[in-house]
Amino acid sequence: MTVRKCLFPAAGYGTRFLPATKAMPKEMLPIVNTPLIQYGVEEARAAGMVNIGMVTGRGKRALADHFDISYELEHQIKGSDKEGMLSGIRKLMEECVFSFTRQTEMKGLGHAILTGETLIGNEPFGVLLADDLCVGDKHDVMTQLVHVYERFGCSVVAVEEVPMDEVHKYGVIVADEIEPGLFEVRDMVEKPPRGEAPSNMAIIGRYVLTPDIFDIIRETPPGKNGEIQITDALKEQARRGRVLALRFSGRRFDCGSVDGFVEATNYFYERMRKKG
Ligand code: UTP
Repeated sequence: MTVRKCLFPAAGYGTRFLPATKAMPKEMLPIVNTPLIQYGVEEARAAGMVNIGMVTGRGKRALADHFDISYELEHQIKGSDKEGMLSGIRKLMEECVFSFTRQTEMKGLGHAILTGETLIGNEPFGVLLADDLCVGDKHDVMTQLVHVYERFGCSVVAVEEVPMDEVHKYGVIVADEIEPGLFEVRDMVEKPPRGEAPSNMAIIGRYVLTPDIFDIIRETPPGKNGEIQITDALKEQARRGRVLALRFSGRRFDCGSVDGFVEATNYFYERMRKKG
């Protein structure tokens, strides 16, 4: 079964990017001239996902507006050389269907994903955290995950080896390598305290999940920081069956942090200049 739906949890406050995110969603921060959310939807679309579900919250209206037609603006620039600047977003709007729901309380990423159940139903789906901006080597990272899902039919998470002194910011896996770069998850720990991480294999913001995860999240008690953690639910899913982790090929920028955001900006600016 192909994966046709992708969920974008985007309800978080983005406190690491204040004051920019005081009245604007962090997913609307632009890397060069394109907002993070648009890169994310392009990646989902490239992986075959045409039903885009967004979990938003207060102050996030700009996300819905970005994927809507702006009649006055489009009328204004019609026939000018600026029209081409909207061709990417227009194509996405033609090819994808967008749905939105709201997470009214910030109870964690697991809870945000559960809030999106109404947009997903009973089928496998992608989860894409748009503040992790990824560039794949041959295929986009979400496409790499879908390829694994198509072979194994279970949930798959993207992982990256991070420096040991940064592991405390991530959920990490303990796993057995079943083929080069592909791991069977045995255990997962969300944001392990410094010096106590069982590995440096960090889960990043790309997942393909099977829909039984919803029932598991419903049963998952609050974990780290009192939030319902997707890591805890995935750990249970691995215990009941199988969860795989793919060390993706490519590069990730943590655009929820100022350093990652600046790196991504430089990278994409150079890429744009080379393309001319
Ligand atoms: P982060 O841990 O990056 O939190 O959430 P945040 O609030 O967005 O940012 P900071 O740390 O305050 O700067 C990871 C992802 O999960 C979503 C966020 O929108 C982000 O994409 N999320 C998190 C929710 O949608 N709801 C939540 O309750 C928590």
